[in-house]
Amino acid sequence: MRTMSHPTRRILVTSALPYANGPIHIGHLVEYIQTDIWVRFQKLRGHECYYLCADDAHGTPIMLRAEQEGLTPEQLIQRIWQEHHADFAEFLIEFDNYYSTHSPENRHYAELIYHRLDAAGHISRRVITQAFDPEKQMFLPDRFIKGECPRCGAVDQYGDSCESCGATYSPTDLKNPRSVISGATPITKESLHLFFKLADFEEMLKDWITSGPVQPQMANKLNEWFTAGLQEWDISRDAPYWGFEIPDTPGKYFYVWLDAPIGYMASFQNYCDRTGLNFHDFWNPDSTAEVYHFIGKDIAYFHILFWPAELTGAGFRKPTAVHCHGFLTVDGQKMSKSRGTFIKARTYLQHLRPEYLRYYFATKLNDGIDDLDLNFDDFLQRVNSDLVGKLVNIASRCAGFITRRFNGQLATTLAEPDLYADFVTAGDAIAQAYEGREFSRAMREIMALADRANQYIDEKKPWALAKQPGAEAEVQAVCSQGLNLFRVLIVYLKPVLPGMAGQVEEFLRIRPLRWDDARTPLLDHPIAEFKPLMQRVEMAQITAMVEASKESFPSAEETPALPAGPLIDDPLSPTITIDDFAKIDLRVARIVKAEAVTGADKLVRLELDLGGETRQVFAGIKSIYAPEDLQGRLTVMVANLAPRKMRFGLSEGMVLAAGGKNGIYLLTPDSGAEPGMRVK
Ligand code: MSP
Ligand code: ZN
Repeated sequence: MRTMSHPTRRILVTSALPYANGPIHIGHLVEYIQTDIWVRFQKLRGHECYYLCADDAHGTPIMLRAEQEGLTPEQLIQRIWQEHHADFAEFLIEFDNYYSTHSPENRHYAELIYHRLDAAGHISRRVITQAFDPEKQMFLPDRFIKGECPRCGAVDQYGDSCESCGATYSPTDLKNPRSVISGATPITKESLHLFFKLADFEEMLKDWITSGPVQPQMANKLNEWFTAGLQEWDISRDAPYWGFEIPDTPGKYFYVWLDAPIGYMASFQNYCDRTGLNFHDFWNPDSTAEVYHFIGKDIAYFHILFWPAELTGAGFRKPTAVHCHGFLTVDGQKMSKSRGTFIKARTYLQHLRPEYLRYYFATKLNDGIDDLDLNFDDFLQRVNSDLVGKLVNIASRCAGFITRRFNGQLATTLAEPDLYADFVTAGDAIAQAYEGREFSRAMREIMALADRANQYIDEKKPWALAKQPGAEAEVQAVCSQGLNLFRVLIVYLKPVLPGMAGQVEEFLRIRPLRWDDARTPLLDHPIAEFKPLMQRVEMAQITAMVEASKESFPSAEETPALPAGPLIDDPLSPTITIDDFAKIDLRVARIVKAEAVTGADKLVRLELDLGGETRQVFAGIKSIYAPEDLQGRLTVMVANLAPRKMRFGLSEGMVLAAGGKNGIYLLTPDSGAEPGMRVK
């Protein structure tokens, strides 16, 4: 029988829904790993807990991205869903349901909430004036207009703010504005929009924050927003738009942020339909279940203002709490494609074990909203010294004696019950730290226990005892004690290291460990042979991962959806040796043919003559060069780049171009150079 010192809670947990227009990267993983650890902890404690998520599949960037790739939005979101789903699974992020906002359940709840808000008078309608792209025939979101800053004159600034002087303004203030999509000069046009009257909920929201659903820093933010005044929120967008059409309002769609959080409910409804759970037990206003949203601080406005207001207005319960976290930096800086620190989940998986990152993030996470840094030296050091050097070491020092000398049988009593009891007692503080999302504190306490276990083994020296005649029983006792301490630590680390915990369960021949199992030692029990549980991280693996993440300038396939990716002034790359450089086979090539690629706005297909040999290369330079202007021109190419399969065909190399804020410039040798010549 399991003894339960804590009553069972019913808990629903979500992470923010990642946009379906790009891959999961290690920045995202801060959130999904944090949430997964918390959920696994709750489940390990015996609570009824469900972890829900979905792809956020609507909105202009997804519509344009699909168009760029020659896909329907449905095809694009389907493919990205597969990718996201696989990435999460391999990082051991265990959703109970991973769904999509483009689903019948989500349409149902979006319409229901809208109808209820409208019926209660919380929706207003009025005509507004907006920038419109006359060529593309669509209204332009602020980020899709660029021009010169009205204050400082900096060129190439977005329609909402200037990155150079920090001014904020509206797109109509920009000088020489142009549409990022077509390049056309935007005109202004009127259109009817629908608004959510957020101010109707001001009192409710003020009341709500006093019940402690957000961190103190976030409560301060909320107060700033109250002081600034709660504006009506524009929840509609005009066709063409990728989303749900608003009932009885042809040509108008719900803004993606209207139906995105509703996706939490939709994912849960879909889960209920599959499992027989009752949706309303969790979402009724009088529900005693708990609902938690984990989010990044960039999307707090949507989750701690709009969302509780919408829920209240539509007759649903509010979240118990919204947990915000900070942003990930790598080696102290924003993730960067050119430095190779914009690391995709997939790239990480090709080089390193997911649990290294899970553990590392756990050592950095607390309940605050400060940014956290991934420092590679620190990462290597933490993982190798804590997990391999301290944790696994305990088991590897004890296991061999038990298997070889005692036929795998653990002793019948504990050698040091007091020491074991200390480990059990420490579990309460560790549980408290997990519950409060103070994972770094939990990891510190666990590693302090690991130190004590190692000290114990150092003092008892089973390897020396093993040579003493008559000390047989003591060897078994000491090693059994060591393995029992190890087992307790594995219980405490199971939320962070579920894969390793599984390996240990096999090694100890036990059923899946639960939190309360730590209370009872494993005695007079046969264990299996010990196999190495975790390899050390090598710097070479990290370097290879960073190399594989480097993009000199974004390839066409990987260019983020408009607005165009950052080609900004990056610092110089680390030094390489002459031998490194010699590996790159640069050749003069003549462009014998250049043509546009159907379905890819940015790509040009090039046929390159290398002095006898012809290569096909896809280059993302169509925004700058018309294909007909390229024909006949000499350039420089990387001739020994591994061929890359793209959706449009094989790309067998790369042409060289300089890329920066102001454009892309193809390199050309001086006249006289001939195709096939080596460039060195
Ligand atoms: N689609 C919206 C969320 C809708 S929720 C109803 C969105 N998607 S996102 O893909 O941009 O981000 C998903 C989550 O990852 C967000 O909580 C965001 O804060 C988080 N992160 C994205 N980049 C991050 C870092 N570099 N560091 C930490 N978290 C980051 O926003
Ligand atoms: Zn400016």
